[in-house]
Amino acid sequence: MATYPKEIQESIERVEATRPARMATKPPRLTLQEQEALLKGFHPDYRPEGKRKLKVGASWGEPVPHELADLLEAYPLLDPRAVDVSQPDHDVDVLVIGGGGAGTVAAIWAHQSGIPAERILIATKLRHGDSNSIMAQGGIQAADKANDSPAIHYLDVLGGGHFTNDPKLVRALVEDAPSVIRWHEDLGVMYDKEPDGTMITIHGGGTSRKRMHSAKDYTGLEIMRVLRDEARSRGIPVLEFSPAVELLTDGQGQVVGAVLWNLETSEYTVVRAKAVVLATGGWGRLHIQGFPTTNHYGATADGLVLAYRAGAKLRDLDAVQYHPTGAAYPEQLVGLLITEKVRGMDALPLNRLGEVFVHPLEPRDVESAAFIRECASPEKGGRGLGVPTPTGMVGVWLDTPMVDMIHGKGTFQRALSSIHRMYVRFDIDPTREPILVYPTLHYQNGGVVIDEHGWTGIPGLFAAGEVEGGVHGKNRLMGNSLLDYNVFGRRAGIAAAGHAKKATLGAPTLAHVRRYVEQLQSAGVPADRKAPLLLPEYRGEKALSRMVDLL
Ligand code: FUM
Repeated sequence: MATYPKEIQESIERVEATRPARMATKPPRLTLQEQEALLKGFHPDYRPEGKRKLKVGASWGEPVPHELADLLEAYPLLDPRAVDVSQPDHDVDVLVIGGGGAGTVAAIWAHQSGIPAERILIATKLRHGDSNSIMAQGGIQAADKANDSPAIHYLDVLGGGHFTNDPKLVRALVEDAPSVIRWHEDLGVMYDKEPDGTMITIHGGGTSRKRMHSAKDYTGLEIMRVLRDEARSRGIPVLEFSPAVELLTDGQGQVVGAVLWNLETSEYTVVRAKAVVLATGGWGRLHIQGFPTTNHYGATADGLVLAYRAGAKLRDLDAVQYHPTGAAYPEQLVGLLITEKVRGMDALPLNRLGEVFVHPLEPRDVESAAFIRECASPEKGGRGLGVPTPTGMVGVWLDTPMVDMIHGKGTFQRALSSIHRMYVRFDIDPTREPILVYPTLHYQNGGVVIDEHGWTGIPGLFAAGEVEGGVHGKNRLMGNSLLDYNVFGRRAGIAAAGHAKKATLGAPTLAHVRRYVEQLQSAGVPADRKAPLLLPEYRGEKALSRMVDLL
């Protein structure tokens, strides 16, 4: 059945030969010192040539990847003279920018807090729900079992983030978590359960208790299905194919709305709002350092660009999350997510010789660095034990047949049905053969600075979900992004509603954009750089030269 070529078949034979010996044992965890050495040697964040310090704005001097710096140090797409912002097309209490998980939750809770549905507007770049939230596979963390507690979850989150997280945000995350699961259940999310109704929970990388709740391996899709229905049944209006291209501010420095760009009609729409919730997601489509990505097409860092021009501070954007297990073969799947749940269900990563080289559930940054070291050539300090693919990639094995061997026949197909379907389409049966994986760009660890109510520090501007920073510090653990958008979407929606009830707005302007342009000019930023990007560029030389240069 396999489509693996002969050279790879030989390595598969090694994997099969070593399997019986490793079925019952787990490799040891790395010490903190070993983790640090691995990160410094092989994690892409530690390549100084990958980033530069910002030359303008509220986070002047902070290092960020070049791909993001090019967007933050860029001129507006919008010509301020081409739009009359004094004539709004919509006048609302709460504008939510982004129709993924965070935006939908924020809108629901703004409504729940007393804002009438017709006074809320969700504006989204693609369709309602098109987002990383819907693509999430493995699960959502919540400490709701007898042997666990929010305090233990708190320590795991801080440890995973190398103690760089904002403690008050972490506290909000873990304390709200059990109520998020209960809320989802009330709304109709169908989590995996034992026949007696007990929630099934498993480990994720860096968790000290089994607290990952999932719906097979399409947890994000299941949660979003229910949240979108809830927003729709409350009658909250949604403008699709309408990304925000600029925020609006008034004379007192408040954010008072946004200018949207209709992707279908190429027209501007001006929205005046008493409060704005930014929920635009992350940067995964920037292909930082040439990596492939798990992300949806809209993940182009637009929210960071807009908020930064309005004066918001950014944090931890020097830390990029590469998911250890992106598909490396076949070519059509390269970069796509192979959920951490596969390792949570005991599939081990192996090198070309069929040897285990790292514990399967180290925190993501450490696990990724271990994969890169295994594949990198000895001239680059690596072990040179990756498996070259026929299309010029290199990867390590994820020994997927171990799942059924350990947990019983049929488990893989039942619990990991979307991964199973992904591979059988290419004549690879992951219950019988291992699959090839390599790190892939997955998440924006940092983002816009917020407080525990999602407030950015700029009157009228709130942020929730992947666009905000501080919750995860420099490394997020699996299952905390679905949790993050539910916790901070809710908090931001409630806070935005509270703000809208008492806000008095001045006339909407683009004055902050003009001031930002002056800063760009004094810093000598090339005039041809424009942002937000809105959609990734896949044409021309830039796309063709996109190759990971770590080997
Ligand atoms: O591996 C995964 O299923 C990804 C989950 C996450 O990023 O939280």
